[in-house]
Amino acid sequence: MNARKLLLNNIVSSRKIPPAYYINVHMILKKVKAFSLILLAIGCYFLPASSMFIKPDKDDGLALTPPMGWNSWNIFQADINQAKIKETADAMVSSGMRDAGYNYLVIDDGWMAEQRTSDGQLCGDPQKFPLGMKSLGDYIHSKGLKFGLYECRGYLTCQKLPGSYYHEEQDMKTFAFWGVDYVKLDGCYAERNKRPSDVDLSIYSEAIKKSGRPMVLSISDFGNGSWAWGAKDFTHLWRTSYDIRPNMESIFYCANTSGGNGVIDSAFNGLWQFAGPGHWNDPDMLEVGNLTSVIQDKLHFSLWCMLAAPLMAGNDLREMPDSIRNILTAKEVIAVDQDPRGFQGYKVFDNGKQQVYNKPLSAGTTAVLLLNMDKENADVTVHWDQIGLHGSQKVRDLWKETDLGYFNNFFVAKNLPQYGHLLIKVGTPGGKMIAGPQPVPVEKYTVTRDGTTWLSDIYYLMKQGDAPVKDKNFKGKEISIAGIQYKKGLSCQTSSRIMYSLNGKADRFQAVVGIDDAYRGDATAQFKVYNGDYFGGQVLFDSGKLGKDSAMKVDVDVKEVKYILLTVDGKNVEADWADAKVIAK
Ligand code: GAL
Repeated sequence: MNARKLLLNNIVSSRKIPPAYYINVHMILKKVKAFSLILLAIGCYFLPASSMFIKPDKDDGLALTPPMGWNSWNIFQADINQAKIKETADAMVSSGMRDAGYNYLVIDDGWMAEQRTSDGQLCGDPQKFPLGMKSLGDYIHSKGLKFGLYECRGYLTCQKLPGSYYHEEQDMKTFAFWGVDYVKLDGCYAERNKRPSDVDLSIYSEAIKKSGRPMVLSISDFGNGSWAWGAKDFTHLWRTSYDIRPNMESIFYCANTSGGNGVIDSAFNGLWQFAGPGHWNDPDMLEVGNLTSVIQDKLHFSLWCMLAAPLMAGNDLREMPDSIRNILTAKEVIAVDQDPRGFQGYKVFDNGKQQVYNKPLSAGTTAVLLLNMDKENADVTVHWDQIGLHGSQKVRDLWKETDLGYFNNFFVAKNLPQYGHLLIKVGTPGGKMIAGPQPVPVEKYTVTRDGTTWLSDIYYLMKQGDAPVKDKNFKGKEISIAGIQYKKGLSCQTSSRIMYSLNGKADRFQAVVGIDDAYRGDATAQFKVYNGDYFGGQVLFDSGKLGKDSAMKVDVDVKEVKYILLTVDGKNVEADWADAKVIAK
C-alpha cells in the first residue's frame, strides 16, 4: 500500500492499517495530512447552495450531430494527470483538431479521489489533479474546448473509484459547478442498483436538468440494448458494444453492432433506425492512430463516419504524426459523419469478405463505403438501385477530394487490398433527399394485440450469445423437452440473452423451459426472466440449474413490464424456451 492510499484511509475510512507500517509512515503522514486536506478542498471546490429547477424535456438541442472530441481512456487508461490533460488540450488546438470539430475533451475513469468527503462530495485525485477539477475545466474552456468527465451509475466506477449511485443529484450539481459539458456515464456494478436502465437514466437526465447546466449524456452499457428501450428519451448517445480494442477484429465487431448483424433481429439490418439528431448509436471511441497501419486507421475512420458515430479520438495527440492528423481532420470525410440529416449508414451488401454501406445525406446525395476485408485483393461494386438511385450519377472520392466523373448504373472500386476501401459521394447536390430503408414497424417487434403473442413471431430487440433459433431446436428439429414436443418456442445454445419489448401490453409470460432432448452432453442450464434489462437486476423467474429430462413451467406476471430479458446460463448446452408466449387480455 502506498503512502497516498494510507493517507486517504487515515482521513476518511475506518480500514485497519498494520501497526508496523503505520509507525514507519505516521510522522510523514501527519505532515502531509494538513497539506492534503487543502488539496482536497481545492479539488472539491466550494459548491453552490441551491440550483434552479428546469422542467424535464430532452429536446435540449444538444448533440444534433454526433459529438466530436478526445477521450483519455483508449490511450492512457487510468494513468492520467493534470499535465497530460493540459498538454492534450494544447495539442487539440495546435494540431487543428479543435478547428476540425473535435471540441469535447473528456477525462475518463481514474480522475477521482478514492473516497468522497465526509459530506459525500466527489473530489479529483489530489495527487493526479492537484489544482482540482474546476481549475482544469477552466483551462479546457480557456482553449475554446468543452469539458467532459466520466462517472458511473453503479456504486463504484469500473476502476473501483466512487460511483454515483445514491449521489446522482449531488454529483451532477458538482459537475455543473466544475463546468462540465459532457458526462460519460458507465454501467459497472449498476445491476446492484436494482433499477432498469430507463429508470436509472431518467434520474440522471433529471439531475442534469436540475443542475441548471446543459450537459451531453453519453452512456456505456456495453451493448445491453439501450437503443431498444428508448435511451433516446434520456441520453444523447449509448454504446452498442463491449469495449473497443486496437485491432481490426474489434473494429469490425463494434461496427457490426451498429451497422448490421444479429445483435438485434437481423430484420432490423443494424440499429440505424434508432439514431438521429440528438441521439446516436455509439460503437465506442476511436482507435485511429493506435492500429498497426495507416490503411487500417483510415478504414476505421471511414466506418465510424458512415455510422454517424460519435468521433472521440483515442490516440496521444501530443505526438501525433501527420499521417494520423490527416485522417482525423479529413474535411469531406468528417462532413459525412456530421451531416445534419443525421441518417446513420447501413449495410447494403456483406458477403463476409467485402461490404458496402450507404448513408443518405441532407444535400440529396449519398455517401457509399466500399471495403475489402479479405486477404486477397478484390473489386467491390455498388449498383445504384442498392442505394436508391439509377441512371448516370456523379461520383466524388471523399478522401482524395476529387470528382471521378459520371457512372452509369453502378460503380466498381477496383483491386482493393485487405482493409482497402473507397469512400465516395454519389449524386448531385440540390436534388430530392434519397430515402433510406423503411424503419421496422412497431407491431413487428412489440406486443400490440390482445390474446396470445408467440415471442418467436416477433423480432427480438437485442441478443447476446448464440440465440435464438425460432420454432426449432439448434439441430433444426422440433423443440423437445423431457419427451414432449413443441411447435413454437426459442432455442438457445450455451449462455445467451434475448430482450423483447412488451410495451406494457402483456399480463403474463408463459413458457416451458428445459434442455433440448437432442442435446447429448451432461451440462446444466439455468433460465432467468428479468423485468427490464440486465441492469434492472429484477429477476421474475429463476429455474435454478436444470439437468436433462426435466421441464419447468414458467408463468409470471408481466403487467406494466416494458421489456423482458430471457437469459440462459450453461456451457455448450442446448436449452429451450418452449411455447414462449405472452398473454394480454
Ligand atoms: C469501461 C468503458 C470504457 C472505459 C472504462 C473505464 O466500462 O466501457 O470506455 O470508460 O470502463 O474504467
